[in-house]
Amino acid sequence: MAAAQANSEGEAQKPSADTFRLFSSAGSGVGIFDDAAQQVPAIPPPPCVEVLASESDVPSSAKHNVEPVNVDGVTLLKGRVNTRQVFGLSNSDLVPGKYEGGLKLWEGSLDLIKALRSDIKSGLVSFGEKRVLEVGCGHGLPGISALLEGAAAVHFQDFNAEVLRCLTIPNLNANISGKSQPSPSNLTICDKAEVRYFAGDWSEVDKLLPHVSTDAKDNGGGGYDFILMAETVYSINSLQILYNLIKKSLRHPDGVVYMAGKKYYFGVGGGTRRFLSVVEKDGVMTSSLVAEITDGSSNVREVWKLTFK
Ligand SMILES: C[S@@+](CC[C@H](N)C(=O)[O-])C[C@H]1O[C@@H](n2cnc3c(N)ncnc32)[C@H](O)[C@@H]1O
Repeated sequence: MAAAQANSEGEAQKPSADTFRLFSSAGSGVGIFDDAAQQVPAIPPPPCVEVLASESDVPSSAKHNVEPVNVDGVTLLKGRVNTRQVFGLSNSDLVPGKYEGGLKLWEGSLDLIKALRSDIKSGLVSFGEKRVLEVGCGHGLPGISALLEGAAAVHFQDFNAEVLRCLTIPNLNANISGKSQPSPSNLTICDKAEVRYFAGDWSEVDKLLPHVSTDAKDNGGGGYDFILMAETVYSINSLQILYNLIKKSLRHPDGVVYMAGKKYYFGVGGGTRRFLSVVEKDGVMTSSLVAEITDGSSNVREVWKLTFK
């Protein structure tokens, strides 16, 4: 992830308002790469597991220090832990097959929240009573936002169970706890919201996800109404398995995927456009650009919406 830019502490910076351009018109995805994804030697992924919110095996070194993040006038809370505390690894963005960057808050997740809030304000989106899956959640702030906007179910997925235990679950608790200050008190949580956490590789985690339908065209209520994902399309080697997962997991025919990421990730080969070329090749989903962010803190970032044709 050579192109990812962050502040001096390795954390995402809030995109500036004047460079966040929203697009309302739908357009087809732009496929500019057609060559097959590069093959790399397979490293067996960690097993897929459901992580229970009650699990409390957080290493004492990974103390969850909470700090506020302001996104578009809403304050969310996030923890700060690093790879040394959680994995015993030197500070690193990515260790392929072992750690996929979930401990850091990437800029795309804030872009995603901002785009969602804009669509909520314009009446294009409502999370009320909806099922949401956040794929590659890390901190999980987009999923937490959906929960605070009244989603009936939010399921969080990350490659690493440790990320869910040490960061996502404490983040969620901090944001819904009345004791936390400042609290996002202008938002409400659905009384009976179902929140669950799933760790594992995209190639097999669908087997654990409760709302994934065995039949992609199931009209009997299977699938998630919304799939949210930020900064998940950086590696060309994972684009196809990620696409397969979202195609299996999205409710047919009305589900919507919100994807935030960089247009290109120099050094690792992926990017939003490369992912869209995988989508376009399959031909069952269509894409539209929601926002483009050119704030100078990194290369161009984008938010896209995907739906079934
Ligand atoms: C760069 S981090 C982004 C984290 C968070 N969405 C954000 O924007 O701050 C990429 C995330 O994708 C997930 N990920 C990457 N490759 C994966 C794979 N092969 N299987 C499952 N999850 C994967 C990891 O869980 C990781 O948290």
